[in-house]
Amino acid sequence: MTSTERLVIVDYGSQYTQLIARRVRELGVYSDIQSWAALSLDETVKGIILSGGPASVYDTNAPALDARVLQHNVPVLGICYGMQLLVQHFGGTVKPGRKEYGQQDITASTHPLFAQPLFTAWMSHGDSAVSLGNLVPIASSASGVAAVMHPTKPVYGVQFHPEVTHTAGGRELLQSFLGICNCKGTWSLDAYIQHVVRDIQQAVGMEQVMALVSGGVDSTVSLMLCSKALQPEQIYALHVDTGLLRRDESKLVVNVLSSVGIPVDAVDASSLFYEALRGVTQPEEKRKRIGDVFVDIAEKKMDERGIHSRNSYLCQGTLYTDLIESGKGHAALIKSHHNVNSPRIKEWRDQGRLIEPNKDLFKDEVRAVGRLLGLPEALVARQPFPGPGLAIRIIGDVTPEKVSLLQKIDALVVQELDAAAVAYWQAFPVLLPVKTVGVKGDGHSYEHVVAIRVVDSIDGMTADWMKVPYGVLQKISSRMTNEIAGVNRVVYDITSKPPATIEWE
Ligand code: XMP
Repeated sequence: MTSTERLVIVDYGSQYTQLIARRVRELGVYSDIQSWAALSLDETVKGIILSGGPASVYDTNAPALDARVLQHNVPVLGICYGMQLLVQHFGGTVKPGRKEYGQQDITASTHPLFAQPLFTAWMSHGDSAVSLGNLVPIASSASGVAAVMHPTKPVYGVQFHPEVTHTAGGRELLQSFLGICNCKGTWSLDAYIQHVVRDIQQAVGMEQVMALVSGGVDSTVSLMLCSKALQPEQIYALHVDTGLLRRDESKLVVNVLSSVGIPVDAVDASSLFYEALRGVTQPEEKRKRIGDVFVDIAEKKMDERGIHSRNSYLCQGTLYTDLIESGKGHAALIKSHHNVNSPRIKEWRDQGRLIEPNKDLFKDEVRAVGRLLGLPEALVARQPFPGPGLAIRIIGDVTPEKVSLLQKIDALVVQELDAAAVAYWQAFPVLLPVKTVGVKGDGHSYEHVVAIRVVDSIDGMTADWMKVPYGVLQKISSRMTNEIAGVNRVVYDITSKPPATIEWE
């Protein structure tokens, strides 16, 4: 546990659930997202927010209000679907009503939740509360009730979304709710570092930690936190060259880490990964096999160094979003992040022998921790790169030849985007398993299609495809088809997340 006070956000499937969690953290209170079907409440929970969601409360099998939410005796705020659940629970009725999407005018009673009596708020609902049972209205919009409260209990509901920046006074509303929860608001990344360092010391004691470092910000920050918590002789940092990294990545990683005083051992395990991936085309199977090879190598290295694996710990850079997307609790499994769902990693986790100092943080929070720890900006600001590497950007089977082709293409894409100073969050090419007909010189060609993906995001949970200037795309396409043998067609991915994910597999 990294905080003595926290808020639980109960997730009913809203696209804004992550945003609620982030807003609460920005207000100095640690927040934890939990599935409506798998709640876990303890004495550190000072308040509960019920998220919105796509269902209707009157549907059979609609996600329900867990009785423990109201029994926990802490303030509760329902947002959109969350408000309608509260209305239903307290004897009111919710029915299909006049739909309200986008900015709506709200008239509010005098109440600490509202910074002003008239404001505009972001709405996105088709159902409305037509009677309120034991609740009373405290705000209204053109279509009816916009906010409710219980006359005697600290239970509130809002039909609009205070977490969205388009809602005037939304931040103040959440702040005021945190005040009602008696939260001190002392959570900060500095405090987080102190807590996590203590947690690592308590967990590891005098034992040994092996840290797997990819060179990305997540694993480097985890390693730095271990270095802060433990003696140098307790830590063994290992960089595994999977053969699936970007061009020259391994050399760069070792150099950058030694420049910040972190000695790291490097092992070239390309042949093991290629062997494990031979003929594998299914994304989940690729991820599983890659995860297994990582663990094999880690355990073998531990044995070689005489670190008894029963007493030792494995440190990795897992993020909060990795856990959520890999189906933490009852969240839907989107894709198995190699560092989460591999059964071998699960064994380590079940034995309490995984150290994952970032597992409560979003990506941009990890970057902020990196800055606080003094990591160079060039490392902190690096674009994310997935553990399974280029294997999940080569659709279909993975061969060393395809990897080498994609490495060249990747270097070209990144070079051109950087030269044009495109401020992307993540940018990469994907090698497709289709060949198409083209004309090169005066002759017929039948070569690979490459898709370019450039996205903007804050934490990788949602992402927008970027409107990269045509001139830049044109240069990429022209260089690619001229300089890279084997490619005669380049396409640009114009899908956001959701519905797509950032990676293609
Ligand atoms: P998706 O594709 O799920 O990706 O939208 C969200 C972010 O996570 C990265 N990603 C991974 N990172 N192991 C990782 O360490 C993985 O298995 C993995 N899969 C996706 C992805 O690059 C993006 O930044």
